[in-house]
Amino acid sequence: MQNVTEISEDLYYLGGNDRRLALFESAFPVPRGVSYNSYLLKDEKTVLFDTVDLAVSEQFFENLGFALGGKKLDYVVIHHMEPDHSASFSRLIERYPEAQVVTNAKTAKMLENYFGFPSERALLVKEGDTLSAGKRTISFVFAPMVHWPEVMMSYIPEKKLLFSADAFGTFGALGGSVFADEVDFDREFLDDARRYYFNIVGKYGVQVQSVLKKAASLEIRTICPLHGPVWRKDLGYILAKYDLWSRYEPETRGAVVFYASVYGHTQNAAEIVARRLAEQGVPVKTYDVSVTHVSELLSEAFRHSHLVFCSTTYNNGIFISMDAFLRDLSAHNFQKRKYALVENGSWSPQAGNYMQAEIAAWRGMEEVAEKVTVLSSVNEETRAKLLALADALARDLKQN
Ligand code: FEO
Repeated sequence: MQNVTEISEDLYYLGGNDRRLALFESAFPVPRGVSYNSYLLKDEKTVLFDTVDLAVSEQFFENLGFALGGKKLDYVVIHHMEPDHSASFSRLIERYPEAQVVTNAKTAKMLENYFGFPSERALLVKEGDTLSAGKRTISFVFAPMVHWPEVMMSYIPEKKLLFSADAFGTFGALGGSVFADEVDFDREFLDDARRYYFNIVGKYGVQVQSVLKKAASLEIRTICPLHGPVWRKDLGYILAKYDLWSRYEPETRGAVVFYASVYGHTQNAAEIVARRLAEQGVPVKTYDVSVTHVSELLSEAFRHSHLVFCSTTYNNGIFISMDAFLRDLSAHNFQKRKYALVENGSWSPQAGNYMQAEIAAWRGMEEVAEKVTVLSSVNEETRAKLLALADALARDLKQN
């Protein structure tokens, strides 16, 4: 049965939720599910904006048929070719062969590669081109690398509405509400929105800044993303988050302690640091990187201003899980944070040097405390050094 929501006059939400997916993009746990959004404009012409993942394809086609109400589908705009949005494309064209595909040249090439859809059948648009649907006009805004190179957005000036593709989206299925103002977004979605942002497009801060500048030149009252709720109130909230995140500025002034420990001695060192930071009034969180998913570790690292990395030495290098975490931070262009290091080793402690070598490639990093080396387990001497490390971090947090 259809489950269509009217977003505004003549504009309908057709998407669906997947709460059974274990790993989004085969990489990111989504315990709260994810939504795949699609929209239909019913003007003198009917315009579909993107399709959906196969997981919600049946619901989508039911919604589309109902929303069209017997009208033919005139246009389908493809903003982003990643299959979580385009997987239902072939089925759509089979059902609505008369629909004119509207997209850009890069997307048309991908449609050919993914589906064997001939490029010459697409109406190609360029940045700033417009398409009239009748009373409303669709203007195309290119957004390369947010999150693939072919990504574009659409703007309807008569509605002051932006179809933002992946941008301003979030993990988390829609619990009934389609609009962000109908939920407590801070409590219900912000952690998922942050984890989604940094893991999906965190690497491309420059490109996100470029899109934000384009958006600033438009009067926007509604944002329709491809995942998560629609924004029609308090848009400054999510725009400010994206501005902060894409400038790689910390969201929280506070510390987070990441540790990799085999038998608990490095954990002990990490927790001595964390306890001291808390005693000094510093907001602090602690994560065992071996049991926390790296997508959450990454999000927490980007969120905080001061980081402590504690690793035991393993195979004359960094422990496996910490090594993977640091390389993931490198891959996401991590930068501009204060940090301190703790290493452990029973015969040849090396983790600190290797962690330092990885961090050396990150822009704008500053080590604010002397590295502490633990030999097997913390003793009185190393405990004093760990307390000094925490005190140095706390001083820096209070001063800067
Ligand atoms: Fe939601 Fe980049 O696809």
